[in-house]
Amino acid sequence: MRAGSRVDRSVPSCGHHRAPTRASARYAIIAVGLLYLGLLTACASESPAQAQGPARQDSAPLRVLAEQQGLRIGTVGDRGFRLTGEAGSRFRALASREFNMLTPENDMKFSRLRPAPDVYDFDWADSLVAFAEANAMQVRGHTLAWHNQLASWLTAGTWTEQQAEALLDEHVTTVVAHYRGRLVAWDVVNEAVDDDGRLRSSFWSDHIGPVYIERAFRAAHAADPDVALFYNDYDIEGLSPKSDSVYALLSELLARGVPVHGIGFQAHFQLGRLPATEEIAQNFERFAALGLRIHVTELDVRVPIPASAEELTLQAEHYRAIVAACLASEACDTVVTWGLTDRESWIPAAFPGWGDALLFDAEYRRKPAYWAVHELLSTT
Ligand code: XIL
Repeated sequence: MRAGSRVDRSVPSCGHHRAPTRASARYAIIAVGLLYLGLLTACASESPAQAQGPARQDSAPLRVLAEQQGLRIGTVGDRGFRLTGEAGSRFRALASREFNMLTPENDMKFSRLRPAPDVYDFDWADSLVAFAEANAMQVRGHTLAWHNQLASWLTAGTWTEQQAEALLDEHVTTVVAHYRGRLVAWDVVNEAVDDDGRLRSSFWSDHIGPVYIERAFRAAHAADPDVALFYNDYDIEGLSPKSDSVYALLSELLARGVPVHGIGFQAHFQLGRLPATEEIAQNFERFAALGLRIHVTELDVRVPIPASAEELTLQAEHYRAIVAACLASEACDTVVTWGLTDRESWIPAAFPGWGDALLFDAEYRRKPAYWAVHELLSTT
């Protein structure tokens, strides 16, 4: 455990879904030890091709190393979790062996949960949460108020301001209450600030105005007073007009007593475009100084495909730098990668010509980025 670890740094271990106290640390260590033994057995059955060399076959899974650092390390569940047969088993086994946190990539978004105005479909999201619980993984909820992936019945409808407020209140309240006591965090508001640092135009801001942000946080807090509530956004890891705007927004919300507990840095990076390490550290610390927890919520580093060996080496350095930035900040205890393997990643569809953004390649082999994170967590 690194020096200065705080009591509220939640270390997931079997049976714990909330931050354990120091009193439970001894049991957590025993649980982690048992888990490690089980995971070593799983590693030993991996083929040499999957493990990239026999010398590394019996290395500790990331989650075991992360737990020793008081860090949650996560992945997302979506397409891979839906695979059936051997492919699905392989995907799920890898996810639960290496990671101690899971975020639903799409299943808790409005369009998935709300096929019709009076219908909530929690089936897929529930199955992900159940999978996480069965595998001692903690869950981040994602996301309640966003401009994308809204249902067409919502965006195509005609609504007054009061109706939109009621829709937001009802959605947030129902979804947060459904998972009350089972999640460690919610991305309550996602990407409310546009690339220029202004309030983004969206269904919610257009109908309700900027106050929709505060409204969503207050409704979420009323529905589950114990879950940590996050504002989540991209391209705010460094110092920029956009991160300044998010800083101003959260400062103002906190000054008025709005229940915001953390900031999520999505960390969707492009190779060669990582802000300087000192800049990330400075930015993290100004948010931490507001009293906010820090999560790195959607980490990936996209590379022009096919990636060269040099590019994968640089990618590994980027991964090492961002995980190190989290470890260096007292406020940061969570890093989630936005996908398990390059086979299921959202990148090729969203950014044509780009890909290879994750820790595992399309054949489920561990990449240099995996080993960079592994080494960092082993030696810090
Ligand atoms: C992405 C998913 O990964 C894709 O599968 C989906 O088609 C679109 O959304 N910021 C976010 C995430 O907050 O929810 C987005 O996820 C990626 C960008």
